[in-house]
Amino acid sequence: MRIEPFSIERWFGRYEFTARYNIAESCVKPFTLSELAELCGTDVLHADAARPVGLGYTDSRGIPELREEIARLYPGRGPENVLVTTGAIEANFLVFAALLGPGDVVISEFPAYQQLYEVPRSQGAEVKLWRLAAEKGFRPDISELEGFVTQGARMIVINHPHNPTGAPIDAGSMAAVCEIAEQRGAVLLSDEVYRGLSLSDAVASPSAQRFSDDAVSVGSMSKAYGLSGLRIGWMVGPEEIIEKCWALRDYTSICPAGPSQLLALAALRDSEKVLARNRSIARKNFAILDEWVRTNSHLVSYVAPREGVVAFVKYAADAPSFEVATELVTHDGVLVVPGACFEVEGYFRIGFGGDTATLETGLDLLAKRLAARM
Ligand SMILES: Cc1ncc(COP(=O)(O)O)c(C=O)c1O
Repeated sequence: MRIEPFSIERWFGRYEFTARYNIAESCVKPFTLSELAELCGTDVLHADAARPVGLGYTDSRGIPELREEIARLYPGRGPENVLVTTGAIEANFLVFAALLGPGDVVISEFPAYQQLYEVPRSQGAEVKLWRLAAEKGFRPDISELEGFVTQGARMIVINHPHNPTGAPIDAGSMAAVCEIAEQRGAVLLSDEVYRGLSLSDAVASPSAQRFSDDAVSVGSMSKAYGLSGLRIGWMVGPEEIIEKCWALRDYTSICPAGPSQLLALAALRDSEKVLARNRSIARKNFAILDEWVRTNSHLVSYVAPREGVVAFVKYAADAPSFEVATELVTHDGVLVVPGACFEVEGYFRIGFGGDTATLETGLDLLAKRLAARM
């Protein structure tokens, strides 16, 4: 398989676990095992002597109870519509690998999580980029999509709440994308890993499952649930697609990790408490970031994110993002993601889901570094 390097992962590979002030992550501050056990009121890995946690393979679609719990998140869907995967990244990969071939046309939002257009390219598909503009709040413009699809498309790929901007999609737009995909016979892959982390009660991107039985939605324990280390994600969609992806995963991971599935099950059964903890971190830290952007408006600006824990911050200095970000991490110990990792210059992606004191210090040092560049 020939594929371009995954820029953000290469960048993280170098600095993620050594930077002193990591304000680059797209997840909420992860739980510890004991914190999760306390919140869920039970230590799931040791609680049940009658049903000890086996360390063998599991049902390769994911354990039935977990598939049922995930299906409950999507009214009208059952466990037969769910495939549990090793992170959302495997779910996306399987959908592309199972459904795409050379010459297929794929429409993918841009900027985007690189996997969403690079893997289709590596399958030989022709990827048309559906650009999200800052002037439109990085929200998808449906009239542009209509223009693209008339040229014939095998798949439409969207991601809202959006990485790297935190832009939502409203119900009307989601319904329209679903209708266009159905009418033209294109598969809609809706990467919804950031759902569940609204920064105000007024905004919540809907799932594509609400509008179309043909759409494939991808979810994850990594972002809104703060459990990225479990490596548990899923896809929900029509049975024929689930079957195809299930058959293909025999070649990738066989089954998701058993203990991780049990922890994911416990967290989903107590999802209200888990999400409440995470939303409160996200909202508190977002207020700090928003204040920082206002105070430093001579240095930075942004379209404020509405959901999730990442913001795409534009800076005024005339310098390449990779150069400034490298200087920042090596001299100040602050890690952000250079816009270059998203093929967009003049921006940084800042993650605000982590430790509050780290965010405050990191932003302070970032402002000083940017001021020195003016
Ligand atoms: C849009 C998007 N999809 C999928 C993933 C992968 O998530 P997971 O940790 O569930 O594999 C990420 C991770 O950053 C992401 O941003």
